[in-house]
Amino acid sequence: MRRSVVLSQWLLSAATISLVLASHAFAQQQQIAPPNYDESKVPAYELPDPLVAQDGQVIDTVELWTQKRRPEILELFKHEMFGVAPEADLSKIAFEETKTVDNALGGKAIQKEVRVYFDAPNPTPCIDLLIFIPKGLDHPAPAFLMPNFQGNQTTTDETSVTAYEANDKARNKDKDLESLRGVAKSRWAFEKIIDRGYAIATCHYEQIDPDYDDGFKNGVHPLFKNFDINASDYTSTIGAWAWGLSRALDCLETIPEIDAKHVIIAGHSRLGKTALWCGASDERFAGVISNDSGCGGAALSRREFGERVDRINASFPHWFTKKFHEYGDKVNELPIDEHELIALIAPRPVYVASAQEDQWADPKGEFLSALNAEPVYALFGLPGLGVTEQPEVNTPVGKTIRYHVRTGGHDVTDYDWEQYLNFADEEVVGK
Ligand code: GCU
Repeated sequence: MRRSVVLSQWLLSAATISLVLASHAFAQQQQIAPPNYDESKVPAYELPDPLVAQDGQVIDTVELWTQKRRPEILELFKHEMFGVAPEADLSKIAFEETKTVDNALGGKAIQKEVRVYFDAPNPTPCIDLLIFIPKGLDHPAPAFLMPNFQGNQTTTDETSVTAYEANDKARNKDKDLESLRGVAKSRWAFEKIIDRGYAIATCHYEQIDPDYDDGFKNGVHPLFKNFDINASDYTSTIGAWAWGLSRALDCLETIPEIDAKHVIIAGHSRLGKTALWCGASDERFAGVISNDSGCGGAALSRREFGERVDRINASFPHWFTKKFHEYGDKVNELPIDEHELIALIAPRPVYVASAQEDQWADPKGEFLSALNAEPVYALFGLPGLGVTEQPEVNTPVGKTIRYHVRTGGHDVTDYDWEQYLNFADEEVVGK
């Protein structure tokens, strides 16, 4: 009845159409309930079983997982959430070393800057990789690859680091980017990382794809031959960021001082979501770190705690596929949940980290994802968290799958890096 009233209104005039659409959008906006922070209000839910295939077959061997169930889950994540794998002309990827400094970080590291062109010989889009490599090693250095939020110059006070130059399509093109030097340095424990024998590479994530809903015009999407704005499973912005980070790994593979077989992809928050998807879909990464990734990352969607699927889709419509927008008010119908994103990383090591005050990201939901990925690791004979309840704050747990919730808020701290370096030593490099 109501539908036919709306339909007849549609026939009246273009003005009426926009009015109806606007009020519909407004109504949808209104329907997003305030975030729930009350554990007793978490709805009952049943998680999809990573070890039961879509045809009902029980997956009880590594072979069945690798040949059958993993590809199924990977496809589901593509079609439901992050989008199809981009088809781009990889012969147009080119690397240009733009700077080398032999005595960076107080003489401990070599600093390299390499521009990665995505559409050579066109100058853009491109990313500027900043790489610090420890000096004096007798072997290529294992490495972390972790994108940054505001430009390479924000990660350190070192004046040798070239300030990110925004191109005319970038969101922050009018900012004085030099004035941001060092503003995010507390998140980048460069010296600690170098002292422990690791290289670290970073780039500004918006050089891959600007972080706003621009109809997928201003970043790498125009390079994807299979991008179709009308498809329900187009490559999302997180999908594009992950693709760009895989190209950064292509670049690291060409640097002799880097041990590209031991590169850990890491990310904070929206870039933690990206790191999980990047590590799940690109098996060259030797390990994955999700720092406070929350909704759409490590946190279980079905718990509907803190940020929820309806809200994330309304606030950041470009992060996920069009299809994912259908699940805002029916997360139980998702054929996947985030424990399976972690399971896709198996048997490679994964670290899920939360922060106590970061309830928006649902620390318990992040823990439960890691816990519910365990059966897949167990197929490989690998241990997991070693606990079934979320541990006390500042008490890291697990082998192969690791987890901690630290005191404090949504951030990356020295404490987090301390744990990631132990994880890298013990699980990834196997020292
Ligand atoms: C917002 C968003 C989160 C995201 C975070 C970030 O808070 O709601 O999903 O993780 O931004 O990336 O900092």
